[in-house]
Amino acid sequence: MITFDNVTKSYGTNIGIQDVTVRIKKGDFVFLVGPSGAGKSTFVKLILKELTPDKGTIKLKDIEINRLSNRQIPKLRRSTGIVFQDFRLLPQKTVFENVAFAMEIVHMSQRAIRRQVPQVLSLVGISSKANKYPHELSAGEQQRVAIARAIINNPALLIADEPTGNLDPDTAWEIMRLLEQINYRGTTILMVTHAKDIVDKMEKRVIAIDKGRIVRDDASGCYGAYEDERLTGFLGGVFDKNAK
Ligand SMILES: Nc1ncnc2c1ncn2[C@@H]1O[C@H](COP(=O)(O)OP(=O)(O)OP(=O)(O)O)[C@@H](O)[C@H]1O
Ligand SMILES: [Mg+2]
Repeated sequence: MITFDNVTKSYGTNIGIQDVTVRIKKGDFVFLVGPSGAGKSTFVKLILKELTPDKGTIKLKDIEINRLSNRQIPKLRRSTGIVFQDFRLLPQKTVFENVAFAMEIVHMSQRAIRRQVPQVLSLVGISSKANKYPHELSAGEQQRVAIARAIINNPALLIADEPTGNLDPDTAWEIMRLLEQINYRGTTILMVTHAKDIVDKMEKRVIAIDKGRIVRDDASGCYGAYEDERLTGFLGGVFDKNAK
């Protein structure tokens, strides 16, 4: 599905990722973890061809993406769905229209849109909200819409960049169950996260990166014990409060 062979990407003197070799198979569910600045977003942007590697090759389904012409890039992006921490829905469009829009930009017919959008809204459990606007939805519901939009064109790969970062724990778990269900239907999932409890309980493959290098790749792993600035920052805050 995705193959990185000795891939290096630097930003001037800053290392993004360094000599990364990894293979993600079709149907995998992979957590990408690591401290802030480790290179996670760089990894994702390379897959999306938002960045070009300095060295090495990246293949998506046997296609070497560095060699694609500009004309072929939209097709590559369509084969990958993406979900963000902050949902990124279009505020002036309803739930139905947000999902339909992803089909319109790839020139699908109105007939296909009328048929497929209700199906995907049902799959993500949000059919009753089809005519609501994003501001009328809870955070969890908005993320469901974002997931519906990401999978409507049936991508082989779904990338989720901290999809539970803005959700309370119960809602985060509902979203994880939904991602698991989508994975069972055959979609490969790559999820960037700092959510230790989720990674530990899901028992999926965990790729840990630090300073641009893969430091761990476990078939059924846990989050790991490295210092996470966000976590220590949070705990530090708690301790400060207790100290007063
Ligand atoms: N546009 C850029 N210009 C210069 N340096 C950059 C740029 N983008 C990223 N970097 C550097 O590359 C390294 C990897 O950054 P990256 O954004 O991939 O980290 P990350 O693992 O996604 O971190 P976070 O968890 O904070 O999102 C960091 O040292 C970062 O400062
Ligand atoms: Mg990042």
